[in-house]
Amino acid sequence: MRLTISRPDDWHLHLRDGPMLSGVLAHTTARFARAIVMPNLAPPVTTTAAAVAYRGRILACLPDGSDFEPLMTLYLTDSTSAEDIAEASASGKVFAVKLYPAGATTHSDQGVTSLEKCFPALEAMQRLRMPLLVHGESTDPVVDIFDREKRFIEETLVPLLQRFDELKLVLEHITTADAVDFVRDARAGVAATITPQHILLNRNALFAGGLRPHHFCLPVLKAERHREAVLEAAVSGEPEFFLGTDSAPHSRGRKESDCGCAGVYSAHAGIELYAEAFEEAGHLDRLENFASHFVPDFYGLPRNSGTLTLTRSPWTPPASYKMPDGEELVPFRSGESINWRLEGA
Ligand code: NCD
Ligand code: ZN
Repeated sequence: MRLTISRPDDWHLHLRDGPMLSGVLAHTTARFARAIVMPNLAPPVTTTAAAVAYRGRILACLPDGSDFEPLMTLYLTDSTSAEDIAEASASGKVFAVKLYPAGATTHSDQGVTSLEKCFPALEAMQRLRMPLLVHGESTDPVVDIFDREKRFIEETLVPLLQRFDELKLVLEHITTADAVDFVRDARAGVAATITPQHILLNRNALFAGGLRPHHFCLPVLKAERHREAVLEAAVSGEPEFFLGTDSAPHSRGRKESDCGCAGVYSAHAGIELYAEAFEEAGHLDRLENFASHFVPDFYGLPRNSGTLTLTRSPWTPPASYKMPDGEELVPFRSGESINWRLEGA
């Protein structure tokens, strides 16, 4: 069986920098025409100049003949100003701003400590139609890790959307039935990205036969009823739910550690994994809208030309990929089969 769809885009991607960037980029460019590139480098990408320079480093690593377009983002901090937003918007290279609550995830220590400090920047974003991409987890250490998304929605997102009633907002990598309900019921201009791991795995996968660091990401995998709700949203055909892999490479050493990093690497099968989940749910026919059509409409960008073809022919990702500096990267489903294959790969 073959499936041909318009070329998709990845609306939430970590490409890193240096050797890791050159080691992972071709996986994304073989599948996606564009990607929203996350700004959580060390140091973070907080200015348009830094985003434009990072974009240049990505373009310099592109495989020969690739027309991949990185869509850059700014990392919101307490001191991001309205002028910073205006400059980003005018650059034509920066397409969104990412909110990491300080301490929520990888390289978020310079993230936002109090949203009120960001109100001038958010007002400018609302005016300029620049979407706010949100890592939606409470950072209150007493909140149970499985409840952090729900608490963030109640305590932060609901008031934020009341105050900024025209701000475009994407709740990134949703993991709970609560997030699905919130996005479904929200006004126009509120959307969510969905990762492959959150529709293929529940939290048992973190402990299957022992501790599984390569299944650890943030927000952490949730209970089965939440996986089902997020999968149902992904395959629902509703345009406010769309593809964002959150592919987040960390070297094997940094994952298999006494304090392992959060992040699942999925770019090597960034469309195939969704095809598998959509097929199992009986809605393969809805993959194209989810992957290729809904978001350009949301961001006000043109749809891609060209197509991508998958064949239903199982393959097995390797135990690891070697990075140019010799580090190993363990991909999602390493050593286990994936039902769909990229034609030509
Ligand atoms: C991401 C990373 O490693 O940069 N990790 C993750 O678990 N998703 C950060 C993020 O998106 O939270
Ligand atoms: Zn991410």
